[in-house]
Amino acid sequence: MANQESTEVVPAGRAAASSGTAVERSDAFQNPGLPPHRPRVTDSDPKAAKHAERAIVALFYVSIVGAVFAMAAYFAFPIHADDLASVRLNNLFLGLGLSLALLAIGVGAVHWGKVLMADHEGVDIRHPIRGDQKTRARAVEIIDLANVESGFGRRTLIRNSMIAAIAVLPFPAIFLFRDLAPASGTPAEAYSHTMWKKGSRLTKDPSGVPIKASDVTIGSVFHVIPEGLNDAPDMLEEKAKAAVLLMRLDPADLHPSKGRESWAYDGIVAYSKICTHVGCPVALYEQQTHHLLCPCHQSQFDITREAEVIFGPAKRPLPQLPISVDSQGYLVAQSDFHEPVGPSFWERRGDYNV
Ligand code: FES
Repeated sequence: MANQESTEVVPAGRAAASSGTAVERSDAFQNPGLPPHRPRVTDSDPKAAKHAERAIVALFYVSIVGAVFAMAAYFAFPIHADDLASVRLNNLFLGLGLSLALLAIGVGAVHWGKVLMADHEGVDIRHPIRGDQKTRARAVEIIDLANVESGFGRRTLIRNSMIAAIAVLPFPAIFLFRDLAPASGTPAEAYSHTMWKKGSRLTKDPSGVPIKASDVTIGSVFHVIPEGLNDAPDMLEEKAKAAVLLMRLDPADLHPSKGRESWAYDGIVAYSKICTHVGCPVALYEQQTHHLLCPCHQSQFDITREAEVIFGPAKRPLPQLPISVDSQGYLVAQSDFHEPVGPSFWERRGDYNV
């Protein structure tokens, strides 16, 4: 039931209002109005205005110098693999160049607004937002007025130098984004070859201890890296491509396609751990269903059917690593993967029949 208690409105200042009483106040604070106007020296002194104009132009040119410096620093201080000092130097000088470019363009724009653009204060009354013809015409008038008062159309040297500074500023990004691509070759080429080769032993991740086929019991799963990976110069890059999951099933549960009958060893199968959706590690194995689950976007792969996709956004099966055993009973690779590992868009050029 609603509260029936009446509410009394009491003017501010009256003491001892009882509970349930709303207190009505007049204005919480007085409108302080606008501060007194202080004329600027650039309004009355043409020499000072000219000086300010030169300073603004100089700032925009400094911004260009900063952007060019950042681009030059990219080449002058290249990043070398396994050399942290080179990364620091590269970041330091790229950062200095970009900071200078951004700072100078910002200071130049603010300085222009403070010392040369029109210096009168106005009050805008709130009004409903409408787009009728009258309002539009007034908007055009205001833009024209702003153009006249700011000198944007008249002070062409400042305007053009600012446009040049803004145009040059994005160029360092081209070099930064270039680093996202492989150092050489196309992404498809980079992902077509991993450290796996004929005779490479399958070893435990991260210890590098070789795995004997007799160590892998039915239902078990191993995180696997190729023998020698821990000593590879580009260890992290190689691991990102070569990481494998190894599982043992009842051989009767496997359904290999023609030509792949010998890729497993006595129910032991090895698949790339790199999800074919966007490359997360597929590391969750459901022992009862023989499904591999990618935790990123829930793609599921059926190990009994060559890791075909049974759910989720991945578009192709996980690549299988053909395996066998050597004379000492250790698991070894028969070859590298037969297709690129990782996200499936690499093969859209039509180079791979997967
Ligand atoms: S990365 Fe595996 S499902 Fe998206």
